[in-house]
Amino acid sequence: MPIEKVGVVGCGLMGSGIAQVAAQAGCQVIVREVSQQLVDKGLQSIEKNLGRLVEKGTLSAADRDQIRGRLRGTTSLEDFKDRDLVLEAIIEQLPAKKELYGALDKICPPATIFASNTSSISITEMAVVTKRPERFFGMHFFNPVPVMKLVEVIRTIASDPKVFDEMVAFGAKLGKTVVRTTDRTGFIVNRLLVPYLLDAVRALEEGVASIEDIDNSMKLGCGHPMGPLTLLDFVGLDTTHYIANIMFDEFKEKRFASPPLLKRMVLAGWNGRKSGRGFYDYADPAKPKPMQLS
Ligand code: 3HC
Repeated sequence: MPIEKVGVVGCGLMGSGIAQVAAQAGCQVIVREVSQQLVDKGLQSIEKNLGRLVEKGTLSAADRDQIRGRLRGTTSLEDFKDRDLVLEAIIEQLPAKKELYGALDKICPPATIFASNTSSISITEMAVVTKRPERFFGMHFFNPVPVMKLVEVIRTIASDPKVFDEMVAFGAKLGKTVVRTTDRTGFIVNRLLVPYLLDAVRALEEGVASIEDIDNSMKLGCGHPMGPLTLLDFVGLDTTHYIANIMFDEFKEKRFASPPLLKRMVLAGWNGRKSGRGFYDYADPAKPKPMQLS
């Protein structure tokens, strides 16, 4: 059965992007947040994105209206009782995720597939709190979700291979290139990306070069859309530090160890673009200025 009725738990940066691409792909989407204020905020961000597409002429106003019609917000998990798939994109904390999946498992029929957008938490550890580990997957999107063309679909040792294929087909339906991977912390992208980002911080700490020169090197020397320190600010220093700690815990390898400077910046609350400061100062978001960090 194709996946048509989708529930998205969490309407923050990632959840709203996932809800948007699912509705754009023709799915009936319900997105849930813990308060009406957060539902409204998430739906407004989707509305803004769709409005930008209409302004640019890549989406007609009529199609935008249809997408809107396929999307609704809720604060109640009970609304997910008829969903083919529930995608979760809430805070990266295992106890919160376990509690959520315990509740969803009671509300949703046994046929509903569950998938987590986690970037680092073990899929197996979440799957085992439900009675459907064979229908439980990782589906890891990239920020900004409407723009980034990749999705990682993650199976566990308990996954049903046929349902895994359905998830892969669903990823393709969303217009993404799907890569299949297994339940190892970091999957493919973060396993390669996180050590690279941490190494950029180490290079800065060791005085190899300035913030701007490190970023320009990878942008102009390797054709990356953003330098590593700009990307860290974009992803969030707290998020990267958190992922690195989980990866270090899993693999016990130095390349995943969060450098002291990163830890200090997180302690200071300089978490990147979202907090106004990170490796750059975003007082004027159009013209970020490198921070003095030594
Ligand atoms: N939502 C929707 N669309 C957006 C957007 C957003 N938040 N930000 C930018 N866009 C769109 C713009 O509208 C524009 O569309 P157009 O080409 O149709 O006009 C297009 O993206 C390009 O945007 P801009 O011209 O404003 O800016 P850039 O050319 O600098 O692109 C970028 C912005 C797409 C963010 C680009 O810099 C980029 O690809 N950066 C790297 C992002 C990346 O690596 N993401 C992955 C992070 S890792 C992750 O998410 C995993 C997690 O587990 C840590």
